[in-house]
Amino acid sequence: MILVCAVADLPDGEAHRLEHGDAPIAVFHVDGEYFAIDDTCTHQDASLAEGWLEGCTVECPLHASCFDLRTGKPTGPPAKVPVRTHEVVVRDGNIYVEVSA
Ligand code: FES
Repeated sequence: MILVCAVADLPDGEAHRLEHGDAPIAVFHVDGEYFAIDDTCTHQDASLAEGWLEGCTVECPLHASCFDLRTGKPTGPPAKVPVRTHEVVVRDGNIYVEVSA
């Protein structure tokens, strides 16, 4: 598991971009729940952590594709390919991510 940050450092409605080799990960806090997906949009090269969060959906800042944080599936064009989702674990006041294969 990879340490993301302290729970206190990721307020509700915010995102944290975690560097992870060639595939950075975006971690979101939505109303007490945490979600992790690949940070790079599957349409082109945009950071989803810099997108707009509405409920469990993030909108890409470049061409406005929407992705469901629970499934990684695009819910609005132009992206057609899902982003990977990753397991999030909260332990001892810290947020961790278990990166999917
Ligand atoms: S880069 Fe995300 S929708 Fe185009």
